[in-house]
Amino acid sequence: MSGRGVDDFAGKTVLVTGASSGIGRAAAVLLGRRGASVIVAARREAQARETVRAVEEAGGEAWFHPADIASQASLDALFAAIEARYSRLDGALNNAGTEGDPAPLPDMAVEEFDRVISTNVRGTWLCLRHELRIMRAQGQGAIVNTASIAGVVGFPGASAYTASKHAIVGMTRSASLDVAALGVRVNCLCPGGTSTEMSERWVSRVPGGEATVAQGVPMKRFGRAEELAAAAVFMLSDAAAYMTGSILTMDGGSTTS
Ligand SMILES: NC(=O)c1ccc[n+]([C@@H]2O[C@H](COP(=O)([O-])OP(=O)(O)OC[C@H]3O[C@@H](n4cnc5c(N)ncnc54)[C@H](OP(=O)(O)O)[C@@H]3O)[C@@H](O)[C@H]2O)c1
Repeated sequence: MSGRGVDDFAGKTVLVTGASSGIGRAAAVLLGRRGASVIVAARREAQARETVRAVEEAGGEAWFHPADIASQASLDALFAAIEARYSRLDGALNNAGTEGDPAPLPDMAVEEFDRVISTNVRGTWLCLRHELRIMRAQGQGAIVNTASIAGVVGFPGASAYTASKHAIVGMTRSASLDVAALGVRVNCLCPGGTSTEMSERWVSRVPGGEATVAQGVPMKRFGRAEELAAAAVFMLSDAAAYMTGSILTMDGGSTTS
């Protein structure tokens, strides 16, 4: 019998995109604490290196590689570097994403729609394409895509973001079936309002900010990045070994009624 616990990542290599802040950084730290070698991918190098430091302070091991998920060339370079360094990939948290500039649909620039879709949908799809190629060959691996409750319900002024997150829910379901019989799992996390740089940009447009918006959440507060990260890490772990194609909302009850 193996001595490894179901939430132990010792000996495993896990990629986190968008690990330079927020949920991604919290997940990188938790994965490192559980023993994973964490690949920290993002565009902002200084912030990403802070994540590497935080993982190391938590007793883990981390390696930064720059990545812009809106660029196929950047992702090709990231995954070539991962294969050269580790020759394997056991887990991936596709967390990078953009919220876009809110506007009612008829007022949103086509270029803004293209930017959000290109980053969130095409970027996540390109990551999945590389990850599934590697994991299919290994016959083992777990992936978590990050959608949003905007992948489950609609929000005014967010047609591009909502469309992109619904697409991530859909591609999770489809991708999970492509590899279900091959030892590879693909699940999806749908956070509700969570206190991060992204939510700060979003609530700053509302008078009263987060405190006001949180009154609309049944639990009367936003989530913490660490809470969302724990859900993502659970789905990446062997504790979720029979879980694939699942769409997990964690939103303080926001989409319950
Ligand atoms: N906070 C919320 O309320 C909330 C709710 C639902 C869903 N989410 C989702 O949760 C995920 C994480 O967001 P967060 O709340 O933790 O916000 P955050 O702190 O702003 O983190 C977003 C991360 O995505 C990265 N990113 C953005 N565009 C990228 C690109 N083109 N290439 C590579 N990385 C990119 C950013 O890194 P760089 O800028 O360094 O590249 C950053 O690390 C996102 O997918 C978001 O849509 C958040």
